[in-house]
Amino acid sequence: MSVPVGGGAEAALGAVRARLARARRVAALTGAGVSAASGLPTFRGALGFWREHRAEDLATPQAYARDPLLVWEWYAARFHAAAAAAPNGAHLHLARLEAQLPDFTLVTQNVDGLHARSGSRRVLELHGNLTKSRCERCGHLDALAPGFALPPCCSRCGSRARPNVVWFGEHLPERAFEAAAAAFSRAEVALVIGTSGVVEPAASLGRLAAQRGAVVVEINPEPTPLTPYATLSLRQDAVSGLHALLGPLTPPPG
Ligand code: OAD
Ligand code: ZN
Repeated sequence: MSVPVGGGAEAALGAVRARLARARRVAALTGAGVSAASGLPTFRGALGFWREHRAEDLATPQAYARDPLLVWEWYAARFHAAAAAAPNGAHLHLARLEAQLPDFTLVTQNVDGLHARSGSRRVLELHGNLTKSRCERCGHLDALAPGFALPPCCSRCGSRARPNVVWFGEHLPERAFEAAAAAFSRAEVALVIGTSGVVEPAASLGRLAAQRGAVVVEINPEPTPLTPYATLSLRQDAVSGLHALLGPLTPPPG
């Protein structure tokens, strides 16, 4: 069922809220829409990155082999935008859920690091993160600091380092994806927030939870290929959708 902003489907929302309130096992999948309220652009959509750039030119191993500086410049710009951005209410709601539930798993496709900065302790980053560089020779990770030189070099062996992200055509971090799939398999409630649901295998997590009988709640202003798998779709932005689902953010206890 889709619930528009101000729509009359209070009963459906009430039922899902009640289910969530007694759930012990909850999993959430987030995408770029969750960071939109922090001022970071999404990929698809009218103002998205992929309107102006082609993913093949910036987010593939081939693009990096062809023009590493061009690729680094794009990631450096995104790094600086993320560093200047603050987590928003959606990040905070999800951090709060983790603190409240015995079994909560946050899985993100975002590379901006905002979930961790909002207090989420355990985040499965399926597409890596742009807060670090990764040595092309020894694999060592270095935290990037504002104004870092391009391309950055490994602090251990001095070789060139690449962005610590997953590009199209590359494998996801295996352990993180396995943990994500396990969490979505056992979840009683699965939240799918701010993702277009077109990039696999991340999107398969929403379908997996639905197939295992979870209550799946999608929060997205637009319908997506995951909408048919959702028990309830809140056609709202991530902050107000989580607010509708979880109630107001109260200050943490203590
Ligand atoms: P997309 O840009 O594909 O989708 C963003 C989704 O967020 C869309 O469905 C929007 O309708 C929705 N949205 C926009 N504003 C929102 C808001 N304020 N609140 C909630 N939802 C909102 O981003 P992802 O699904 O994250 O991969 O993209 C998946 C992957 O494709 C990314 O990780 C990236 C990209 O290419 C790589 O770079 C490998
Ligand atoms: Zn190295």
